[in-house]
Amino acid sequence: MRKSIRGDKVRAALDESPMATRILGSTEQDLRAAQIILKKGGTLAFPTETVYGLGADATSDSAVRKIFAAKGRPEKNPLIIHVNSLEMAEQVALLESEALKLAKSFWPGPLTMVLKKKREANISESVTAGLESVAVRMPAHPVALELIRRLGHPIAAPSANLSGRISGTSANIIADQLSGRIDAIVDGGSCILGIESTIVDLRSAPRLLRHGAISLETLEEFIGAVDVPRAFDQIEAPGQLRSHYAPKAKVKLNQVAREKGFVWIGFGACHGFDLNLSLKGDLKEAAANLYAMMTIADHLAAGGLAIAFSPIPDYGLGRTINDRLRRAATSSTDQKQMGQSG
Ligand code: TXA
Ligand code: MG
Repeated sequence: MRKSIRGDKVRAALDESPMATRILGSTEQDLRAAQIILKKGGTLAFPTETVYGLGADATSDSAVRKIFAAKGRPEKNPLIIHVNSLEMAEQVALLESEALKLAKSFWPGPLTMVLKKKREANISESVTAGLESVAVRMPAHPVALELIRRLGHPIAAPSANLSGRISGTSANIIADQLSGRIDAIVDGGSCILGIESTIVDLRSAPRLLRHGAISLETLEEFIGAVDVPRAFDQIEAPGQLRSHYAPKAKVKLNQVAREKGFVWIGFGACHGFDLNLSLKGDLKEAAANLYAMMTIADHLAAGGLAIAFSPIPDYGLGRTINDRLRRAATSSTDQKQMGQSG
């Protein structure tokens, strides 16, 4: 991923981005600074195993509103709350047997469950956008878990990116999009999984709301059949807009040979590509590289090129990658024509 043939050009472009937002590490002193930002109702990008979150204290309405403002996110699009224990999850949401089974199998990890919100839950109304459900996840990243522990409350966090754009999987990508709009970034290096959590609605029979880092096949091994909306490109999770995860350049899918006018992102042993998601055709590696390579390709395409992707097999994590690519390829103009915002 970092061995891009045109990496120098990219690094130069990233270095030019404004750096008004503080970059913190994970020393005791820096974690303390991050804790103070959260306790004072500020906003903080922090690493998780999937993508970086743009976090704030989930119990503070004014803090949560800052997340929406920083991202330019529609207020109707609810946020995931991040917990560091089952007890913290149970203070906010009702976990019935299936949810408990999944929590025990996949938490901490890249599974978000949409559950019934408890009446007495101490979280801001803005987090759930007024819904009676709440999305909950326990991230598998020591820095994320430590920040939640220090705050003593759940952290509400969407992915750290401008609304509709590429999700941040490293501090550089986030600074590129959000510098000056948030209080700090806790730099924890590149995210290991590099793609968002799988979201499943468990309020009745399990229903997939977003393909993610846990494949549908794996999920079904644990809880049997999961309902997958047939027209998956219809909006299921409120924020699952058709145009999403989008670079600035136009995106073309299923390109099988080099063509002029494109930065070509390959998959597997193809020839003539500029970048390759996984030379050995490994879907997990491809998912981990996806957003970072899209960001690099976007810089390379800045002179008016488009970005093309090789075909990706449509099973396992390939389904998640294809979901993101389809949304990336849907332009915001198409989106407006379909009457949606985001
Ligand atoms: O891996 C992840 O899930 C990352 C990290 C930071 O945890 N977070 C993330 O958040 O991807 P975000 O906001 O980019 O995507 C969360 C999705 C949105 O599409 C939102 O609409 C949906 O979850 N969501 C949140 N609460 C919901 C609810 N109560 N019912 C249905 N969908 C919900
Ligand atoms: Mg997102």
